[in-house]
Amino acid sequence: MTAPPELRLGGGAPGKARGSTPSHDVVVIGGGGAGLRAAVAVAETDPRLSVAIISKVYPMRSHTVSAEGGAAAVVGADDSLDEHAHDTVSGGDWLCDQDAVEAFVAEAPGELLRLEHWGCPWSRQPDGHIAVRAFGGMKKRRTWFAADKTGFHLLHTLFQTALSYPDVVRYDEWFVSSLLIDDGRVRGVVAIELATGRVETIAASAVIVCTGGCGRIYPFTTNATIKTGDGMALAHRAGAPLKDMEFVQYHPTGLPFTGILITEAARAEGGWLLNKDGYRYLQDYDLGTPDPKPVLRSMELGPRDRLSQAFVHELDQGRTIDTPHGPVVNLDLRHLGAEVIDGKLPFVRELCLRYQNIDPVRELIPVRPVVHYMMGGVDTDIDGATGLAGLYAAGEAACVSINGANRLGSNSLPECLVFGARAGRAAARFAGASPATAPSAAVLAQGRDEQRRLERELARHAAGGREHIADIRAEMQDVMENGAGIYRDGVSLAKAADTLLELRERFGLVAMDDHSRTFNTDVVALLELSFMLDVAETVVHCALRREESRGAHQRTDFPARNDQRFLAHSLIRREPDGTLQVEYRPVTVTRWSPGERVYGR
Ligand code: FUM
Repeated sequence: MTAPPELRLGGGAPGKARGSTPSHDVVVIGGGGAGLRAAVAVAETDPRLSVAIISKVYPMRSHTVSAEGGAAAVVGADDSLDEHAHDTVSGGDWLCDQDAVEAFVAEAPGELLRLEHWGCPWSRQPDGHIAVRAFGGMKKRRTWFAADKTGFHLLHTLFQTALSYPDVVRYDEWFVSSLLIDDGRVRGVVAIELATGRVETIAASAVIVCTGGCGRIYPFTTNATIKTGDGMALAHRAGAPLKDMEFVQYHPTGLPFTGILITEAARAEGGWLLNKDGYRYLQDYDLGTPDPKPVLRSMELGPRDRLSQAFVHELDQGRTIDTPHGPVVNLDLRHLGAEVIDGKLPFVRELCLRYQNIDPVRELIPVRPVVHYMMGGVDTDIDGATGLAGLYAAGEAACVSINGANRLGSNSLPECLVFGARAGRAAARFAGASPATAPSAAVLAQGRDEQRRLERELARHAAGGREHIADIRAEMQDVMENGAGIYRDGVSLAKAADTLLELRERFGLVAMDDHSRTFNTDVVALLELSFMLDVAETVVHCALRREESRGAHQRTDFPARNDQRFLAHSLIRREPDGTLQVEYRPVTVTRWSPGERVYGR
């Protein structure tokens, strides 16, 4: 059977004559917090440069929009950069690179203030000062917020700022399928315009990957369906190593079934976690606080990894509540009252009413741990540079690393800003030093090869097959949850690695039902699944090799932290023969020698 004619993909730039190759100094992949901040930084650094943002969704639909609780940066006189840095390093179980953390905490307040000047409506105290709330693992109140819709306001502010730079152009709803590499450096991307199905080579002197994480490789996640690890896979396929992929953060309070985030701010404002007996079970767990029993006031604000692990123990003890969508515990906000909930947590109430049909003013909220964030990502230095010349990464797609083995809540929004800006400035310098020339014959040939590869692949899948995208995706997600979840061991991980190999084989037999060129969601789902399978394998292989427990990586067969062997970042790359190689790089320690994790003072 031959491919339906509608699936033939063609060339031609938007608004340009067919055959001409669009070219930009810097291409940013992803239009979320990190991507928009990076684009603005390029424009500010060198106004002569042309910047393109390529995003598979309209920028305001990027996952940043769903961030709720806030953004951490030192603001109060009772706080200090050292304390923020120490909380971050200790929260990350000493796997953070401390030079990166020091830069991060120093630049975060300036970034949040800049956002204020660009129009971000930070919540205020009655006297007009910035309001800050407590957040998990932070010993001081330093989390800035805009009610519990911080991501929406932050993204909106960045988007309207980006719009004011005429040299920032956008390719909305374009899907990048590969990076173009020539002579050891990045030269651009190949992307599909989703509205028409045409494939384009887009040349660039520098490319910044800001595509977010890959929570969708797991079945229960706070992550939007778009978070499929695209940028991680693109960089990995181009030869850039991924770092610390075994560290997967579960957020302790997601809604069952949908996985929608119920922000940690709900616990910061005083919410309680109750087991099926109505008991605040966290008082029975060692959350890393100085006292073996956490102080009642702070226990719900223990670190996310420990809270998620405590849930598993409650489950094992039969103290969770069974629901059609799995076991849950309850989050109780009733004692906060309608005024606090409507004033500080209006989105929590809205989400519960809309998606769970319950009112937290009067009812308990069922919650369970759900995958929230990847500590790992594309290996970068402190300026977002990867090992591949001209390729940069920032935000959740990247691993700088400031998050180590467990990110503290509210550090990720400022991370997008600080390292998005750094990557933008560095890419601008790189592109400015080697201005865009017409793409070489070799680059154009690579672009055509990629176009032919896509046509071939898509035609093959459109011609039929006995497998379905949704089945393979669901099986991959189950494998990840069962084999590489909150707790793992060598046996579960080895089995997961084998099953992923089988799924990769079966992926070749997937059929596509949609044969149109216009917004063909099967094409997107297929390409995303191939990215997710790649990324899932890196998580499992890194987890298999790290024979210790640290932060979010808990090996029941190696329950202790082992600094002697593993105070190091894992770097995974795929060899030309397809095998995965993991090596280690020592953690950068500047001022804080590895110690016990301490919270909730
Ligand atoms: O719970 C939250 O609002 C999540 C915040 C974060 O992950 O930084």
